[in-house]
Amino acid sequence: MRIDIVSIFPDYLAALGLSLVGKARDAGLLDVRVHDLRKYATDKHRTVDDTPYGGGPGMVMMPEPWGAVLDDIRKTSTAAPLLIIPTPSGNRFDQPMAVELSSADHLVIACGRYEGIDARIAEHYAAREDWAGVREVSIGDYVLAGGEAAALVMVEAVARLIPGVLGNAESAADDSFSKVDGPALEGPVFTKPPTWRDLDVPDVLLSGDHGRIAAWRKEQAQRRTHERRPDLS
Ligand code: ADE
Repeated sequence: MRIDIVSIFPDYLAALGLSLVGKARDAGLLDVRVHDLRKYATDKHRTVDDTPYGGGPGMVMMPEPWGAVLDDIRKTSTAAPLLIIPTPSGNRFDQPMAVELSSADHLVIACGRYEGIDARIAEHYAAREDWAGVREVSIGDYVLAGGEAAALVMVEAVARLIPGVLGNAESAADDSFSKVDGPALEGPVFTKPPTWRDLDVPDVLLSGDHGRIAAWRKEQAQRRTHERRPDLS
């Protein structure tokens, strides 16, 4: 899979060289390219924003630099890309959306700052037949300073679902939110030592009885889901 990310703070995306995403890139499973929007500004101050039509606070990102960078990215891509615009006004990003996006060939994430990107960018690329559509996506009901942190969240959630990125031992099938009928959240986990600061690992987990262990885990997951996320139980 290929993912292009456009930002006025390309250094913000340096974390994508680390950990699971960094390894997936090294293994050739994921091709991540970060672009500096300011390189596509045309004036000497590298301006990418302007005041909003109709008035109001803040600044709006101008369509011209966005159009230029997105068209440039399209020229280097073999498959029609899906454009993702992180915004608090978007559809909520969740595990089913991560699963859906993980089967795309090419994602382009347009990280806005200020009050957002001129709405004609979403409208134009949604109408383009050489693009696979536009998704405006929110990672939660809070307002960030820009789309970069949301892009990091989405890339990590999507990358770990690409076949070959996780080893068998850490299959995504057991994740919270992934089980078809089971509880949404995973229960507590423990490792050695069996006693730490007077706290014991539950006996059942040391019993070797796989049936009892599975039943205990399911009950713990149900309890946790009920307590913490009643909306999901
Ligand atoms: N940009 C600012 N806030 C955001 C959010 N909650 N989700 C995605 N992008 C954002």
